[in-house]
Amino acid sequence: MAEEPLGDVLDDSDGRRVGAGGKVTLALRIRRYNPDVREDSWWDEFTIDTEPDDRLLDALHQVKWYQDGTLALRRSCAHGICGSDAMMINGKNRLACKVLVKDVLPKATVEPIRGLPVLKDLIVDMEPFFAGYRSVLPYLINDEGEPDRERLQTPEERHRFDDTTKCILCAACTTACPIFWGDEEYVGPAAIVNAHRFIYDSRDDGADERLRILAERTGVFRCRTTFNCTEACPRGIEVTKAIQEVKRSILFERF
Ligand code: SF4
Ligand code: FES
Repeated sequence: MAEEPLGDVLDDSDGRRVGAGGKVTLALRIRRYNPDVREDSWWDEFTIDTEPDDRLLDALHQVKWYQDGTLALRRSCAHGICGSDAMMINGKNRLACKVLVKDVLPKATVEPIRGLPVLKDLIVDMEPFFAGYRSVLPYLINDEGEPDRERLQTPEERHRFDDTTKCILCAACTTACPIFWGDEEYVGPAAIVNAHRFIYDSRDDGADERLRILAERTGVFRCRTTFNCTEACPRGIEVTKAIQEVKRSILFERF
């Protein structure tokens, strides 16, 4: 289906192409892969007219809905909550629904996140990522049986793990990690963040077991503190700090 014409496109003072109704022109370069078509990946380029305050996800939808319906990408909420649209945008892991067009103009390069097998275009196989997540027992473990009422904790106890409750399992951190790229057995930053969330929860009894798992060769000591994970996290979680806290707990058994 052809797009409606958007009117004349003019050059404005900062060099961005601005058309009628405040439209801007965005050039998108997208890494494509489709094993049914060819063995290697390739680049496709698209030009779209869009709004500066649209999200990059809207721009990708525009490509998919009006220019090339074969483009494959994953998304759900479009509001930074579900974590399904992590991708590499201009070389950095981002959620496409949280990047504004005006922040990438005049062009954006879009690639799948690294370190996980690409299934098609921007869609990767998340199973190795979730295998690492599951390996750290990311759920409440409590041996006291079912309580009569909720398990209480103080605000201070809750604050201890507040930051790591914010994780949406988008994989932006883990797939920004050079150790994960080179060692698929490393559980990765996201798994450690989710272990942290329970290790320091006063209601949980599973800290010993999680720390034993994370002390193994595939655990926290693979981390080389490059901070890529913290930089990549769209939720602003201090991922590297959480990893360091878990390392310290293993070394000094202070948890
Ligand atoms: S820690 Fe941040 S970057 Fe990593 S999976 Fe969770 S939300 Fe995504
Ligand atoms: S689509 Fe849900 S986080 Fe972006």
